[in-house]
Amino acid sequence: MEKAIIYYSKTGNTENIVKRMSSFKALKVVPENDNPNIQNPVIVDSPEVKGYQEIIFASPVHGFQLAIVMRKYLESLDDLNGKTSDIFVTHHFPFVWMGGNSTLKQMKTIIESKNGQVRHMTSINWTSKKREKCITDMIAQYQD
Ligand SMILES: Cc1cc2nc3c(=O)[nH]c(=O)nc-3n(C[C@H](O)[C@H](O)[C@H](O)COP(=O)(O)O)c2cc1C
Repeated sequence: MEKAIIYYSKTGNTENIVKRMSSFKALKVVPENDNPNIQNPVIVDSPEVKGYQEIIFASPVHGFQLAIVMRKYLESLDDLNGKTSDIFVTHHFPFVWMGGNSTLKQMKTIIESKNGQVRHMTSINWTSKKREKCITDMIAQYQD
């Protein structure tokens, strides 16, 4: 079964984790311009979900919410019916209520609106001492 991680990463943290998950095909969402202040970014690379039954969607938190590029990408998807989706976000601030949890919820809501089923959700605090454990625990979920 083909498995994919579809992700956005502006400064490389999210991508760094994606690169450690080699059993998934890594597909990057690429905007024309990476400036996070652009309210309606043009996406030049918009990965296809067709053909993947298991998809992880990953994004950084920007301004206490989902990075606009990833929001726009998720909202553009047609149908996720029959696919299992997991989500992870990376963020900087020390508390999950400073964006991590609400961003996961925001992604879940969009995915469910496309008939997708969300399974695992992980919020990774980049500045936490527990960061590495959090990442290895998440990756361990995918070891057969
Ligand atoms: C424009 C911008 C806004 C951000 N806003 C938040 C925020 O609201 N909460 C937070 O915890 N981290 C915030 N961060 C930090 C990033 O979420 C964090 O560094 C993340 O790991 C970056 O992922 P990336 O390297 O894959 O882009 C922000 C970063 C940027 C560039």
